[in-house]
Amino acid sequence: MTSSTEYIQYHGILLPLQAHSKESLEYAENFSVKDTDVFAVTYPKSGTIWMQEILPLVLNGGDLTPIQTIPNWDRVPWLEEKRLAMVVDQLASPRALVTHFPYRLMPPSFHTSKAKVIYVMRNPKDIMVSSYFFHQMAEFLEDPGTFDEFMDKFLEGRVLFGKWTDHVKGWRDTQLGDRIMYITYEEMAKDLPAAVRSISDFLGRNLSEEVIQKIAEHCSFKTMKTNKMSNFSLVPKEYMNPDKSPFFRKGVAGDWENHFSSEQLARFTSAIRKELEGESFSLPWSMD
Ligand code: A3P
Repeated sequence: MTSSTEYIQYHGILLPLQAHSKESLEYAENFSVKDTDVFAVTYPKSGTIWMQEILPLVLNGGDLTPIQTIPNWDRVPWLEEKRLAMVVDQLASPRALVTHFPYRLMPPSFHTSKAKVIYVMRNPKDIMVSSYFFHQMAEFLEDPGTFDEFMDKFLEGRVLFGKWTDHVKGWRDTQLGDRIMYITYEEMAKDLPAAVRSISDFLGRNLSEEVIQKIAEHCSFKTMKTNKMSNFSLVPKEYMNPDKSPFFRKGVAGDWENHFSSEQLARFTSAIRKELEGESFSLPWSMD
């Protein structure tokens, strides 16, 4: 069996048909968000699977059972994907979910709830590199073409979940007040125990230093890469082929420097700057 590389258009963004359907999107629109729910929100390739490992451990005080026995996609399901309806009744409370949805597509019950959000941002240059390799291994995504061609697609938003800048703009300008916390992939990569501590504080958990260290060890790139519940080795190669590129590829900040030419850097930076002109927030990385 080979996987389809078809996409569906949903409110102006592209979604791969492999994981999304009209029904799953309707289910997300009508999803009943609970006050105790926690959402990790990411633009794809910003650290989603990382949060699917961290969140259950922070919420349950460091019990490794979920990360060792439940595949990441069922443990902390995507709001918009087909799996959610199948596993929703089995989710531990408080529930942790992830979503790539732009803010404007969050369901009405999310806005009236007290659910919390952790928005993970990553340097878009590294996102683009990660996504380029991911498009090679994920057989359900369109072939990325050359790196240069993929850069145009990325900047124009002709990729899953649309333009990175739209995603960030939407999630930086919300009515959520202290229900949302912002963290970067780079902060997590630099000092994971500190990141786990901030997440734990935000979620009102009082984790001991020992538990924080334990969570950080189990959520390191090295450990997660060998966790078969998180490294996608349970997925048939027809869908995700690690021989082309492993899901746990490099796990570092700044890999873009190995891939961008100076012309590409100038083009990328100028396009992102133009999109973000006049915004009230500034990016946590230098774009040069
Ligand atoms: P690279 O391709 O740059 O290695 P997502 O989960 O949103 O799809 O993001 C995937 C990216 O996060 C990949 O980046 C992957 O290696 C990285 N990643 C996943 N877990 C990580 C961890 N524990 N530490 C550092 N990077 C991690």
